[in-house]
This record gives sequence, structure tokens and C-alpha cells, in this order.
Amino acid sequence: MQLFHTLRELRAFLDSRAHQRVGFVPTMGNLHAGHCQLVTLAKNHADLVVVSIFVNPLQFGANEDFGSYPRTLQADCEKLEAVGADVVFAPAVEEMYPDFDGHDLHQQMVIQPPPLADDLCGASRPGHFAGVATVVAKLFNMVKPQVAVFGKKDYQQLMVIRALVRQLNFDIQIVAGETVREPSGLAMSSRNGYLSAVEKNQAAQLQQQLLRIKQALLDGRRDYAGLCEQAGVELKQQGWQVDYVDIRRQQALTLPDAQTTDWVILVAAKLGKTRLIDNCEVSVS
Ligand code: PAJ
Repeated sequence: MQLFHTLRELRAFLDSRAHQRVGFVPTMGNLHAGHCQLVTLAKNHADLVVVSIFVNPLQFGANEDFGSYPRTLQADCEKLEAVGADVVFAPAVEEMYPDFDGHDLHQQMVIQPPPLADDLCGASRPGHFAGVATVVAKLFNMVKPQVAVFGKKDYQQLMVIRALVRQLNFDIQIVAGETVREPSGLAMSSRNGYLSAVEKNQAAQLQQQLLRIKQALLDGRRDYAGLCEQAGVELKQQGWQVDYVDIRRQQALTLPDAQTTDWVILVAAKLGKTRLIDNCEVSVS
């Protein structure tokens, strides 16, 4: 497995493999089994798999965890080697953003995503998806993959990336990986490391609420607002600070109506200082 920190080295290597189909998995590192599953998926779709590890300052708000986000490059490389990644690209902030002045990114050109990026997580994290779309577009231009793999864990992000590829004409196939979970049902996340042992036990409550709403939809309930409100109240009673619980249509995350047959239930809530997200797709024929 090759590890590159500069674009020049990455391109020199990839240009020497120009005949190979490149699969790409962008990450921010601190890798877990969810990331590794995306690498395995990429291997099924490509001859050569590139994984990027870059904690992207452009997608973090001023009061968020950019500074404390876990940076574990060596352990990450060991995991990636074990699952058969071919290349790790881990650029420094200056390599990624040459006009970054060390303090803010006001000189950086950003991609403005469509309105689907403004609600749900976008409502409480203004500029987050512009930061994601911008770094992913830059990485696409650097790696030039034929296929790129993203997790459904970040469902709204996946929809923003699909819109990016469609609307800005990237000739890249987007493959989605299912959410990998702990035995408790808690979705794996780099941020789970912020949870205390007690909080980690409690964190499975998030998925439990999703599964309750799923069952209600399968039972024919269509009072979406009521279902979400009840889940929100119960989470608050259990000690969560709830950002949102919402039921949307799967593709464009638009509001469902009584005729809708495919939904995604999305939740974001904080346990102590840790903000967690999760979601669950439901379909009836
Ligand atoms: P990160 O949070 O590191 O996630 C990298 C990829 O792993 C994303 O596609 C995410 O959806 C996926 N992922 C995370 N947890 C998962 C799980 N439990 N099961 C399956 N897939 C999971 O998402 C980002 O980084 C960044 O926003 C990025 C796209 C790299 C842009 O900076």
C-alpha cells in the first residue's frame, strides 16, 4: 500500500496506472468497520482503490470539533492495508487549500449546494455541506476516480454528493454502502469515541427510536409529525438534546405525503457533548 501526502506524488503514481479503473473512498480518518466496508465495496467496483484521509476545516463550524477530531493516521493505515486498499492520500491543509492563510478560508472558492443542503443537518451546521461538496469536488479532480463510495450513515451528505455529480457533470459512479453498526445497534462513527462508557450504552436509543417509527410506518401510520414528535419527546426524556427527528422521501429528501411509499427517517441529537446522527430507510410496495 502506498501513502502519499502531496498531490504531485499521488498523480505521478496514478498516472503510471492510467489503464486501471480507480475506486475512491473519501474519509476524515479515525477509521472503523464502517469505513472498511466502503473500501471492500470499492474493491468490488475497481482495480485500484484510493482512500483519502483529510480532516476538512471547511466543513466544520467555528464551535465544532475540528481541533479535537481524532487524527490516527498510523492505525488507519494498518486497517486500510488489512482490507486491501492500494493508496492512502493524506494531504496537509496547505496542500489541499493553497490559499489558506492559516486562520480562515475566506479566499477559498466554495461550491454552493442546492437547498436540500439547508435543512436537517444543514440547518444547524450552516456551510457544512458547502464545505463537504467543495472538498469532495477537489478530491474528485485530484484522484479522478471512475467510481466513488459513500456511506448511507450520512444520508443527507450522500444526497448532496449525488446532486454534485449530477449537476456539475462529474463522470463518476456513486455507490452507497449500508450503515455498519455496533452489536447494540449504535451506528459506528468516529465521534463515538467522544462518548463515556455510560453514554455509549445509552446511545443505542437513537436507533431504537428509528426502528419504532419504521414499525409504525409499516403498520400504516402516516401521521408523520406526530410520530417524530413522540420520538423527540422520548429522546429528551432519556437525556438527549434533540436537533431533529424527521421523515422524508428517500431521493430528494422532500416531505412525504399520504401516497409516499419510500421514506427515510432521520435523526440528529446530542448526548452530553457528542452530536450523533442516524437514519433508517423504509419502503412498502
Ligand atoms: P467520515 O465521517 O470519515 O466518513 C467517511 C465515509 O464513511 C462517509 O461516506 C460516511 O458516510 C461513511 N461512514 C461513516 N460511518 C459509517 C458507518 N457506520 N457505516 C457505513 N459507512 C459509514 O463523511 C466524511 O468523512 C466527510 O464528510 C467526507 C465525505 C470525507 C468529506 O470530508
